[in-house]
Amino acid sequence: MSQIVLGIESSCDETAAAVLAADGRILSELVLSQIADHAPWGGVVPEIAARAHLAALPELAREALRQAGVGYANLGAIAATAGPGLIGGLLVGTGFAKGAAIAAGRPYIAINHLEAHALTARLPGLSAAQPQFPYLLLLLSGGHSQCVVVEGVGRYHKLGTTLDDAVGEAFDKTAKLLGLPYPGGPALEALAREGDAHAYPLPRPLLHRPGCDFSFSGLKTAVAQLAAAQGTTALPRPLAANIAASFQAAVTDILADRLANAFARRPDVSAVIIAGGVAANTAIRTRLDTLCAAQGKTLIAPPLRLCTDNAVMVAWAGVERLRAGLTDPLTAPCKPRWPL
Ligand code: KG4
Ligand code: ZN
Repeated sequence: MSQIVLGIESSCDETAAAVLAADGRILSELVLSQIADHAPWGGVVPEIAARAHLAALPELAREALRQAGVGYANLGAIAATAGPGLIGGLLVGTGFAKGAAIAAGRPYIAINHLEAHALTARLPGLSAAQPQFPYLLLLLSGGHSQCVVVEGVGRYHKLGTTLDDAVGEAFDKTAKLLGLPYPGGPALEALAREGDAHAYPLPRPLLHRPGCDFSFSGLKTAVAQLAAAQGTTALPRPLAANIAASFQAAVTDILADRLANAFARRPDVSAVIIAGGVAANTAIRTRLDTLCAAQGKTLIAPPLRLCTDNAVMVAWAGVERLRAGLTDPLTAPCKPRWPL
């Protein structure tokens, strides 16, 4: 029986479909971003997201199969993100996947989005050697900030999470305060290159404290106060650049400190995978890479298109689950909140 898997992702503002062969070869991968639909509102609007997924998904999946040169009848399983995420988008993606599973007479696999990020590192060809369990996942996205030990397929141990904002959210909110467009992370990083990271001694919540939890809201508040103290709505660019650079340096310090604590707690992990949009940040990547090298660990930073939300990771989690015989009934629910 074929083990080709179609993966569907629709948990936030990307509609994505990908087809993977049983050995993990990517036969096709498509992502449609809804950023332009949400930009006027300065953030993701759930209702708009759900409608956009519904409009795009049938044709996107058809095109992914066409590019892979397979039909529904050739599939071994259909996998879709079933949570965590926005319920409207999840219902669209899983509803589509279940319909396809019924039509093709093939199993359905409900994928945890966080698990999909966690298992991406094992995609063949991504790193010199496929990381062996256990390894660490540092998930740094707009919706999640988590430090997780990946013990095996379906076996995860959370070491820490954010106590308030996700790290990407902190980037986006700070960028907004600095007058930058949504999504603010990339714009803030670009502006930070012009600034002095030592210009402002911003707080670094939880630094040097035990554990692997994150906190960013105090940092964001400090930036808000700094910006307000300038008494003008449009900050002069050099000043905004100094704030951006100081903010980025604080976030980088926090992440490095938390990762060092994770190594102390779990010296048995040999590799770290970073995922989520913030993993695109060069200053953060470089700092975490240096820390990993100093501790004899391998940092795996997948190419950006596989770090941010995509369907290759969903299909790959499907391949791993199918191999392990882990399929789901069509009654499997969507779970907007679904901790690993
Ligand atoms: O994983 P992702 O694409 O989407 C979800 O969160 O679902 O992450 C998006 C987040 C946004 O908050 C965005 O501002 C942030 O990642 N981001 C960055 C960078 N590129 C994207 N943050 C900092 N530096 C970047 N270069
Ligand atoms: Zn994600």
